[in-house]
Formats: sequence, structure tokens, C-alpha cells
Amino acid sequence: MAANYATVNNSQTSPYGSGDPYYNESTGYVTPQHPPVKKTSSWIKFGIPVAIVVIVGVVVGAVLGTRAANKNASESAAGSSAAATSAIGAKNNLGIFPTGTDSLYMLPLYPATTNTAAFTTPTFVSTNNANYAWPQDPFQPSNPNPTQVRSDRPRLIAPSYKWAVLPQLIANDPYMASWNNSIFGNASTYNALPPVAYYLDGGNGILDVARQIKQRVKAFSYVYRMTNDTKWVDRTWTELQNAAGNLTGGWGPDNSTKWNPSHFLDTAELTAAYAIAYDWLYDQWTSDQKASIIWTMIEYGLNNGVTCYSSNDPLYYGWWTNNTMGNWNCVCNNGLTMGALAILGDDTSGIAQQLLGMTVSNAVQNCALAPSSDGTWSETSDYWYFGTTGHVELSASLLSATGSSYDLLDVNPGLNLSSLFHMYGTGPGSLFNYGDTGPNKFTATANGLFFYGGYYNQPAYQLFQRDQADAPDPWTMFWYDPTVTGAFWDGLALDHFFNNNTDQWGSMRSSWTDENALFVAMKAGTLQGHQTHNDLDCGDFVMDALGTRWFGELGDGDYLSYGYFESDAQDSPRWLYYRKRTEGQNTILVGGENQNVLAAPTIQYDSSGTTQGSSTVFNVPSGSNAYFIGDLASAYFNVTSFSRGIRLLNSRTQVLLQDEINAQASVMWRAHTNATVSIGNNGLAATLTIDTRTLQVDLLNAPSGAQFSTMDAVRLSTDPPTPSGSPDQPNPGVTVLVISLPAGTYTLEVLMTPQWPGVSSTSYVTPSSVPLSQWSLTSHP
Ligand SMILES: *[C@@H]1O[C@H](CO)[C@@H](O)[C@H](O)[C@H]1NC(C)=O
Ligand SMILES: *[C@@H]1O[C@H](CO)[C@@H](O)[C@H](O)[C@H]1NC(C)=O
Ligand SMILES: *[C@@H]1O[C@H](CO)[C@@H](O)[C@H](O)[C@H]1NC(C)=O
Ligand SMILES: *[C@@H]1O[C@H](CO)[C@@H](O)[C@H](O)[C@H]1NC(C)=O
Ligand SMILES: *[C@@H]1O[C@H](CO)[C@@H](O)[C@H](O)[C@H]1NC(C)=O
Ligand SMILES: *[C@@H]1O[C@H](CO)[C@@H](O)[C@H](O)[C@H]1NC(C)=O
Ligand SMILES: *[C@@H]1O[C@H](CO)[C@@H](O)[C@H](O)[C@H]1NC(C)=O
Ligand SMILES: *[C@@H]1O[C@H](CO)[C@@H](O)[C@H](O)[C@H]1NC(C)=O
Ligand SMILES: *[C@@H]1O[C@H](CO)[C@@H](O)[C@H](O)[C@H]1NC(C)=O
Ligand SMILES: *[C@@H]1O[C@H](CO)[C@@H](O)[C@H](O)[C@H]1NC(C)=O
Repeated sequence: MAANYATVNNSQTSPYGSGDPYYNESTGYVTPQHPPVKKTSSWIKFGIPVAIVVIVGVVVGAVLGTRAANKNASESAAGSSAAATSAIGAKNNLGIFPTGTDSLYMLPLYPATTNTAAFTTPTFVSTNNANYAWPQDPFQPSNPNPTQVRSDRPRLIAPSYKWAVLPQLIANDPYMASWNNSIFGNASTYNALPPVAYYLDGGNGILDVARQIKQRVKAFSYVYRMTNDTKWVDRTWTELQNAAGNLTGGWGPDNSTKWNPSHFLDTAELTAAYAIAYDWLYDQWTSDQKASIIWTMIEYGLNNGVTCYSSNDPLYYGWWTNNTMGNWNCVCNNGLTMGALAILGDDTSGIAQQLLGMTVSNAVQNCALAPSSDGTWSETSDYWYFGTTGHVELSASLLSATGSSYDLLDVNPGLNLSSLFHMYGTGPGSLFNYGDTGPNKFTATANGLFFYGGYYNQPAYQLFQRDQADAPDPWTMFWYDPTVTGAFWDGLALDHFFNNNTDQWGSMRSSWTDENALFVAMKAGTLQGHQTHNDLDCGDFVMDALGTRWFGELGDGDYLSYGYFESDAQDSPRWLYYRKRTEGQNTILVGGENQNVLAAPTIQYDSSGTTQGSSTVFNVPSGSNAYFIGDLASAYFNVTSFSRGIRLLNSRTQVLLQDEINAQASVMWRAHTNATVSIGNNGLAATLTIDTRTLQVDLLNAPSGAQFSTMDAVRLSTDPPTPSGSPDQPNPGVTVLVISLPAGTYTLEVLMTPQWPGVSSTSYVTPSSVPLSQWSLTSHP
């Protein structure tokens, strides 16, 4: 059967249930939950950023030079309001830290200093001083209801009382000043471009263009409100007319499917863009313009939203309303809700009211349950961005417009902890980016941390995010609490373990502020129930040190590949692609076969509980230690027993990875690296180099026949073919470090020793062999 949305075959095997028109039997293609990535890696190889070092020097100089005047400012803050404002004012002297350009996620570079005057316990300082703090929202309804909105505009995210004090706050906070400046710069950049062109991409639909339009509308509307210059209103109007198909040349189909409701994320993001424009520029629109915006939003957005919720949804636009605890539910409900809130009262059709009766409760039952109880996002660490952006826009819009976020922020303790999930998943090199890594981000950021930090009273979340490259954003201007002071790392544990059975994983590091820090993360968890975005990857790990990633992930495959999203069953075509197969992960492969999708691992872990102090220079105390062990036998078909443990050694300067396995089929230890690998010591040692940096890898107490070798990061010759000739994605520059053994019982102990500058070889340890069952915090140096 050819792809035909109008013809529904009820016997298809689609993951979204029977009658799913997005499943194409001839190609095996299921409309992806998320569109394909056009990779535009911002990774710049190491060894370059001389300029950054210089900037750090300048900042540190400035910090040290002005520090004396603010000595202990934060510490004495609790007492008087004068002290409070001085603590907040200390930020002005510190300035902001340069954001790294040397890592994929543009991580910040913290000044190396032991002078800790402003680096203290994360706190929101109590003050009413309008130069430093948001006033109370005057709108405090006693019985909030999603259909009863505040009387003033804007309603969404940023009510007028916040705009009124914004200039003062910007004048007194270097972060807000820099973000404001960036948003103005971004708006000028967009202004110089033609309206966003219509582009329908196979699986991505029009999501990229929808998010670009939303990004522009946010920036234009923000700058208008900060300047009163109506050229920004006119420019917004041009973008809205463009997306309505009203400019010369049109834009998309000339009917109700203009906003591509078959891939509803697109419809939702365009509806959100219209909502922001309508609400933030409300006073500037003529009544004709308002009528046009409402008509267009209803015709292309909200009407299709009602279809999603109706039993008469023959094309199944609304599969995401049903039992979908993932980012789709958050993004789609958010767009519809923002649209409805924006026009409520002006809408004479009743549709806004009708939708608000459906979206909010649906999001509480789906979107809000997307994180596990421990905070791990159900899909992947990268999809966390899309999901939390939708969840926070939704919560924040309801809160500002109606005085409550209902149960959206409280129904699941994991929503608060999802900020920790992101913080602990961020290594000094990159995210622990297991599974699919998703589409272009545009409006999806980590700025939910500002909102969550305020709502859950966790200043550390805000402090973590404010130094990040994606912080400049109109939302940030209203979610950031300028009374926040201190350092997120002060008192923050170096290790954290997430132990919901669906997503067991551990994160261990040697510092929060050193871009060269050691970082290890390893996962177990179940292999189903992740919105089909995961890999068959129990035991998979990443490792960063010396400012680079040594063992890492390959990311997503081509979302348009045959059967890529068909299901997470054992026989799904998804599991025929190298990047999704067990052999494409940093774990053990048994019999050359994929792991068992019914895996139910158990884990053990412990940590010395070491926390970093206020200084950015952290010397790890001796005996500071952590380990994570997974019993992964259930993830394999041909093993009697298998446990994998990973631990930090020698004051967190070395790593030991230990596998104890009894297998009835061949055993292959595999780890993917961008490094150049050279094998020595009769195959018992591997030297990995990236630029001028070196990681020494030793196989200790090697069982007979065990030695390192290398392979290309391509499918094994014994693998079944990819489906319908869909190719694997190439993995250029990646080498697989391998230990290959026949069936048998083995203990494999792999010691990883980054060659730290200035550290003599005698300072490194070679641990003696300790069975995993006897691992403890003191079992190793
Ligand atoms: C925001 O940034 C723009 C561009 O740099 C600047 O002109 C404007 O004065 C800033 N706003 C405030 C309140 O400082
Ligand atoms: C927005 O401005 C910032 C700061 O100038 C810049 O780094 C960023 O790339 C801009 N974003 C876009 C989408 O232009
Ligand atoms: C813009 O106009 C508003 C309302 O008249 C006024 O309160 C605000 O001060 C003006 N802002 C600027 C930057 O002129
Ligand atoms: C809308 O227009 C497109 C493109 O012209 C067409 O393929 C589609 O069938 C139309 N849909 C409806 C519901 O009329
Ligand atoms: C676009 O044109 C249509 C048809 O004339 C009209 O109904 C709609 O209001 C217009 N929308 C905008 C945003 O200009
Ligand atoms: C909702 O999803 C469940 C499976 O999760 C399925 O059994 C049910 O039929 C779906 N309901 C609708 C209305 O599609
Ligand atoms: C795991 O998280 C889910 C929510 O996603 C929760 O329902 C479940 O109880 C949690 N399980 C455990 C063992 O904590
Ligand atoms: C949020 O999580 C933190 C742990 O990071 C905890 O200390 C705090 O009590 C939680 N707050 C709420 C409101 O659940
Ligand atoms: C190789 O480096 C890229 C960054 O350019 C990173 O995304 C990827 O995960 C690394 N691959 C491995 C196998 O470490
Ligand atoms: C592994 O187990 C599966 C399922 O029991 C079996 O079909 C397969 O032949 C075994 N593989 C090896 C290499 O023993």
C-alpha cells in the first residue's frame, strides 16, 4: 500500500495503534515522533581557544580587582536589606563568564579562582528593592480556572507588572543586561532576513520553519515592548501574514492543512507563535488585524486541535493525546493552550474555551508524567529539551494568564528533579546523549531551569543555566529571578544516581567547574517505554577527561529510514540499524546479537557524597569515590550471569570498568571513540590520542586470549541486513576499541588513565582485582 493518509488499513503494525495512517507499509515508515536532524555541529576542535583563555584572564582580573569591595557580600546578606542589595549587586562586579566555544554544547568556562567572595551557597536573597527583585503579581485569583484570565495584557508568560520593572532589573543585573542585548541583536538579525520560507521536509514536516517563526515572533515582540518602535509590530505582522499564506507566492497548502496537522508539533508551534504575537502586541493591533490573527489561528491551528481531541479524527492527528508521556504531548498541548489563552474573550466561536477544557487535564495526565519519579526524561537526555520547553511554556502561560498551573508542576516529583537530570547529564565535554538526539532546537532550550528553579525554590537550577549559551531568550527575562546569588556548585554533590527501574543511570565527576574534569556516566534501565527513541544499550557509558570526550555516542540514525520508529519490539526494523543495535553502544555484545528488549536490570551504587565547595578550583580529597554496578544478565539471551561496574579511582583521576560475565556465546567488549588508537604491550594496552591529549587504557589481569584490537564503527558481517536497503549512517573518525573472546566465563578489568598534565606516572594507581560483589567505597584506592 502506498502512503495515503486517506486510506486506513486497520491491520498495520504501527506503534500508535491500529488505523494509524502515519504508518506506511511499503516503506515501513512511521511519521517520526521527531524529525531528522540537519547536523550543524558547533564542535570546534581543541587547541584553538587562545582568545577564550585571554577573555578568562580578563574576567578573573576584573573579578579579583573588584572583589575586595564586595568581600563577604553574599555571606552577610541574610541580615539587612542593604546587605541583600549589596549581595545581589556583587554580580555587577563579577560580570558574566565567557561561554565556551570549544564544546558541542558551548559549555561555560568558569574563572579559576579560589577567591570565593561571591561564590557561596545558592540563595534567593529576600528583598523588596525594585532594582533587584520582581514585585508580587497583583493578580491572585482565589479560585483559579483555566478559562478565567487576568484582565490586563499580556497574559502569556510576561504580564505588564513585569515589563514595568524590567528596565530597572536589566540596569542592575549583568546577566539580564547581556541577555537583553542578545535578544535585540537576534531580532536585528531576523529583521534583515526575508520571512521564513515554507519548507516541507519528509519526516520533519514544517517543524523547523514553525520553530523559526516562533523564535522570530518572540524576539520581535520583545523588542517592540522594550522600545515602542512600531517597526517591530509591522515586521511581526509580515511574518504572521507569511505563515497565513497571504504574501505573494503563498505558503503551504491553501486549505485547513496549511500548518501541517498530520505532524501536529508544527501546528502547535505555529499556534504558539500566533498566540505570542496576538498577546504581547495586543495594544498595537487594529481590530481588523486581531480578527485576521484569530481567524488564521483557528482555521489552521485550533480547529485541528479540536479534531485531535474528537472521536472523529479519521487521520489520527491526535495520537499524541492518548497515553503519550513524552515531548509530543507537552509541545502540542502547549501550543493549543497558549493559542486559546491568547484569544479567550475575543474569540466568539467558543473554541478557545472548549480547548482549555481538554488540553490542561490531558497534559497533567501525559506530559507531566514524562519524567520518571527520579527526574529522568522518558525519551532521551536530548528530548528533555523539547519536552521541558513545552511543559514550562504551558505551566508558565497558565500561571500568568489564570493564576495557577493546576497540577502540571506538582503531579509528579520527577518534574522538579528533571533539572537535576539535565545538570547531572551534562558532562564537561557533552551531554550523556544516549539514544536519539533529535531535531534542530531553535526555540527548545534548557531555560525551563529558570522557571523550575523559581517554582521549586531551587536557586542552583537558575545559577547553572544562567551561564549557558542558550540562556538569552525572551522567556529567560521573565523566569530568571535576579535576587539569585551564589554558585550552583557550592554544596552540590559530584555524583548522582537515578534509580527508577525504567532509567537507572549514574553520573560521577571530579569537578563542576573545570572543563578538563573527569566525567563518567553509565546506564542500565529498561529498553522499552521510551517513545521508541532509545537504543539497545544496557551498560552503555560515556567518559570525558582533559576537555574532550573519550568514549561517546553515535546519536540518531536517519529518521526516514525504513521502520526506524516502527516499534520497540525485539523484531522491530529499528534494531537493524548499527547506531541503534547493541554493537553500536559502549557495552558488551554477546553472540553478535542485540540485547533483549525485555531487559530488567538491577543496579547498585555508592558515593562518598563528596560535594564541591564554593571555589571553582576543587581539589578532590583522597578517598573521594563512587561506583555504579548493573546486573545486566536479563538484557542478554545467551548469558548465565553478567554484571558490569564502573568506578572512579585515585581521587577521581582514573576509571575502572569491570565486567564479570558467563556467556554461552562469543563475548565482545566494545567502546566507540574519536581518538586515534594504538595498541601495545602485546594487546594489553591501548593508547588513545585526541590532538595532543592522551588516554592510557590497560587491560588488567587479562584472561587468556584477551587483548585489545580495533574495528571500524560499522555493522558486523554476521548482522542481518538493514531493512529495504536503507543504509546505516557513516561514523567518520570513529574507531571501536574491542576485546573479542569466545564463549566462556571472564572478568575483564579495563583501567582508564587520562595523562593529566604535570602528573608523574608514579602517581597513577593500578588497582588489585576485587570482584564486583565486594566493591565498596574503600575497596579501591
Ligand atoms: C536592551 O538592549 C538594547 C540593545 O543593546 C539596548 O539598546 C537597550 O537599552 C537595552 N535595554 C535596557 C533596558 O537596558
Ligand atoms: C542570538 O545572539 C547571540 C548573541 O549575540 C548569538 O550567540 C546567537 O547565535 C544568536 N542567535 C541567533 C539564532 O541568531
Ligand atoms: C513604551 O510605552 C509605554 C506605554 O506608553 C511606556 O510605559 C513605556 O515607558 C514606553 N517605553 C519606552 C522605552 O519608551
Ligand atoms: C489541502 O491541499 C493540499 C495541497 O494542495 C492537498 O494535497 C490536500 O489534499 C488538501 N487537503 C484538504 C483536506 O483539502
Ligand atoms: C490571510 O488571508 C485570509 C484570506 O483572505 C484571511 O481570512 C486571513 O485573516 C488572513 N490572515 C492574516 C494573518 O493576514
Ligand atoms: C489509546 O492507546 C491505547 C494504548 O496505549 C489503546 O489501547 C487505545 O485504543 C487508544 N485509544 C484511542 C482512542 O486511540
Ligand atoms: C518510576 O517512575 C514512574 C513515573 O514515570 C513511577 O510511576 C514509578 O512508580 C517509578 N518507579 C519507581 C520504582 O520508583
Ligand atoms: C525539589 O528538589 C530538591 C532536590 O533537588 C529538593 O531539595 C526540594 O525539596 C524539591 N522541592 C520540591 C518543591 O519538591
Ligand atoms: C565524537 O565527537 C563528537 C563531537 O564532534 C561527539 O558528538 C561524538 O559523541 C564523539 N563520538 C564518540 C564516539 O566519542
Ligand atoms: C542465543 O540465544 C538465542 C535464543 O535462545 C538462540 O536462538 C541463539 O542461537 C543463541 N546464539 C548463540 C550464538 O548461541
